[in-house]
Amino acid sequence: MRENALKKAAINNGLVPLEEIYIKPNPELAKVGKDLFESELLSLNSNMSCQTCHLDEFSSADGLPNAIGTGGEGEGPSRMMGSGDVVPRNTLALWGRGTKGFNRFFWDGKVQAENGEIFSQFGEAVPSKDPLVVSVHLPFVEVREMVARDEQVENELLREEQDIAYTIFETLASRVKEDPNLGPKLAKASQRDLDKLEFIDIADAVAAFIRDNFKVETTKFHAFVFEEGTLTKEEMNGGLLFYGKGGCSSCHSGPLFSDLDFYVIPFGQAGFGKNGFGVDYGLYNATFNADDVYKFRTPPLINVARTSPYSHSGFYTDLAPVINAHVDPLKDISGVDLKASERRELTTKIGLWSTQKTPGEQLSKEEVGSLVVFLKTLNTPDNINE
Ligand code: HEC
Ligand code: HEC
Repeated sequence: MRENALKKAAINNGLVPLEEIYIKPNPELAKVGKDLFESELLSLNSNMSCQTCHLDEFSSADGLPNAIGTGGEGEGPSRMMGSGDVVPRNTLALWGRGTKGFNRFFWDGKVQAENGEIFSQFGEAVPSKDPLVVSVHLPFVEVREMVARDEQVENELLREEQDIAYTIFETLASRVKEDPNLGPKLAKASQRDLDKLEFIDIADAVAAFIRDNFKVETTKFHAFVFEEGTLTKEEMNGGLLFYGKGGCSSCHSGPLFSDLDFYVIPFGQAGFGKNGFGVDYGLYNATFNADDVYKFRTPPLINVARTSPYSHSGFYTDLAPVINAHVDPLKDISGVDLKASERRELTTKIGLWSTQKTPGEQLSKEEVGSLVVFLKTLNTPDNINE
């Protein structure tokens, strides 16, 4: 009975067999995409690759609260020892990005696809109709993420009177063309003449790799809902809370446990923040619409138990306080410990949050514990190591 209720709730909230959402990439392109994803040649200053922050060891994130970009050393938490440039957001995992219907990217939705149109910083000159391909363009030209604002950038690029992003794309495309390994491989996989290769071919290949490598394989929960898999009693309890009293599925719905919509959740803020001085206005940064202040995209929850720290700024290390903050924002935070500016931020967020749909009911410690146990059933099987 309880089993059937949970299966029904999951399906009613958009869970589908995974084959239904896959988009199969060209395998050859995905293979070169892997090399490009891992290549430092593709950061302007040649000291970063996508993999510097999207690491297998941290389930495609980096284990850091805020990402550390150019000038950083090492991988994962050891980067905190150095003096690298801070990217004021928590690194997102890449699981299921590039599946059917995944149309809003980044914490603040700075790339969104709607009715065949793409909203992004490229405006009319959007390089592709595929929102993943458009998203893949951005890290390459993000200062502090893969572009250091050093003398080379100032001298070679900023002085020229053309759009810096396009200059960087051209520079990177020429490097790939000239590389004896990457150039011919990419030309062959994208069926282009070597000298005709452009940056879009690089982005297409990296997107193909993301589709292939971060494909979501059957989780324990998928196996329970669609195959003959079973759950423990506590996992069941957690699942029923997720779809019931906890109100989680009113936002964490759909095939990857996100409605890809934007909400204010009264989380603390770690680090400098996208808007500086400990402030991050979220979606507002992409839309400049006053109603969007402090809203962030509901994060998908596949492999969430493996991608600590949590929230757009990595404020939380553990899942239980994340859950508490959704339903009882002041439970784990004492106003006395905050700076006056932080207290103001938090009270504003709580005000906005309390008027949103389903703030959720109070949950006991045991209930939060069951929810955490349930979230672990959303791990993919390949790297089960806990
Ligand atoms: C310095 C660390 C860093 C590097 C290097 C990096 N990323 Fe990221 N990545 C992040 C962070 C941080 C975010 C979240 C940023 C945000 O939403 O504001 C992110 C988000 C993303 C997303 C959006 C995921 C989603 O759920 O919407 C994609 C796609 C992505 N990165 C791909 C790449 C690719 C491809 C590269 C290499 C070209 C790359 N990243 C390099 C840190 C990094
Ligand atoms: C009103 C919509 C909404 C509801 C309801 C909701 N969430 Fe969230 N959740 C979000 C948003 C938005 C974020 C990201 C907010 C941010 O980082 O500022 C988030 C973040 C999270 C995270 C952190 C994920 C990460 O990768 O950093 C977890 C875990 C989570 N939610 C689980 C839950 C659980 C469990 C429940 C039910 C008790 C729940 N959520 C209810 C919208 C919601």
